[in-house]
Amino acid sequence: MAFSLLSNEGKVGIYNQNKTSRCCFLSKYSQFHFGEPLSSRIGVALFGQGPKLLLKIKIMALPMLLIFLFHIASVASSNLRPGFYSKTCPQAESIVRDVMKKNLIREPRSVASVLRFQFHDCFVNGCDGSVLLDDTPTMLGEKLALSNINSLRSFEVVDEVKEALEKACPGVVSCADIIMMASRDAVALTGGPNWEVRLGRLDSLTASQDNSSSIMPSPRSNATTLINLFKKYDLSVKDLVALSGSHSIGKARCFSIMFRLYNQSGTGKPDPAIDPEYRKELYKLCPIDVDQNVTVNLDATPVVFDNQYFKDLVAGRGFLNSDETLYTFPTTRTFVELYSKNQKEFFDAFVEGMLKLGDLQSDKPGEVRKNCRVVNARPNHLLLESLYKQENGHKAI
Ligand code: HEM
Repeated sequence: MAFSLLSNEGKVGIYNQNKTSRCCFLSKYSQFHFGEPLSSRIGVALFGQGPKLLLKIKIMALPMLLIFLFHIASVASSNLRPGFYSKTCPQAESIVRDVMKKNLIREPRSVASVLRFQFHDCFVNGCDGSVLLDDTPTMLGEKLALSNINSLRSFEVVDEVKEALEKACPGVVSCADIIMMASRDAVALTGGPNWEVRLGRLDSLTASQDNSSSIMPSPRSNATTLINLFKKYDLSVKDLVALSGSHSIGKARCFSIMFRLYNQSGTGKPDPAIDPEYRKELYKLCPIDVDQNVTVNLDATPVVFDNQYFKDLVAGRGFLNSDETLYTFPTTRTFVELYSKNQKEFFDAFVEGMLKLGDLQSDKPGEVRKNCRVVNARPNHLLLESLYKQENGHKAI
């Protein structure tokens, strides 16, 4: 199994030599083994390179690379579990909750925006905080991917949490774990269920705009597309419907429903599933010439996490096509009806879904970032990268 250190084009990798480690997890791509001593787990491979480059790297970069690998491995050797920081940063969870509380008071929508990070982070190469990385001259981050541009927001809330955690326990709590705790808090603080999160994730060293753009679903999606997408992550129809209940809080832009209001499936007409009264309201909120960044509530109680979202779907008052489709499609409708009548069933299924979503892990090496927006400074990595480029006349990755 090889983990690319550079990009798909890059030929320098870290590979796992020992497949009999004592604990491991499955990611959607491969299996990653934890808990082994560094020496037995990791080696450095150069695939398809000439002896000249191999020699150069051996002489110049190997000692530094080993230090770098040691850093990665030393933080990677653990599994996800509740209370992961109970010894290293016992205040972690209360610090996150305090910052989330402050932000809820300052701008109620911001906690919904943070909850959304969990979805957009975990579906793209696992829950590794990749969504939080800013673009760099050599890497296009996920913030400007199709589903995220002009839409994902409240990154500054995560910055604030990270700053508070770095003050209390420097270099301990990963940004990927911050997303997990903060998403849970967003729900618990707005009236939804509270649950214990499994922690111990690492932050990615890179992000992929292309992956994000190709994976994250469009608001136009129908239930079949969504069911198939979630299935790829071992998430069931029940998980899909329950997790869509996240739209119980927050807002969306008119941009996301213009087709639905004015030209559903190229008919030049609105989606017939929209309740006529609600359609009138939407025409007022999102007239044809509206600034499409204008936002509208995702359900009738946008700052309370409850089952109103499902009641709205039953009444034809779902905002997004991807919401209302869950009611019009028979397989998903059963769950929508159940959750509209029974909030506890919804909450239980939601927690289960969030835990499963949070268990999607990256198979790449990681670190605990100091700043969630940038990977930690790493001269040895850059040295290898530039060596490789020099040798191959490669352009920037
Ligand atoms: C089932 C597939 C899903 C689709 C197609 C979808 C799509 C969307 C879209 C289009 C928006 C509004 C974007 C905009 O107009 O700027 C949105 C907002 C939101 N989504 Fe989803 N979403 C899905 C699932 C989820 C999941 C699983 C979560 C959380 C675990 C989530 C949490 C949220 C939240 C909280 C908001 C409101 C954010 C805010 O107010 O800033 N969504 N979603």
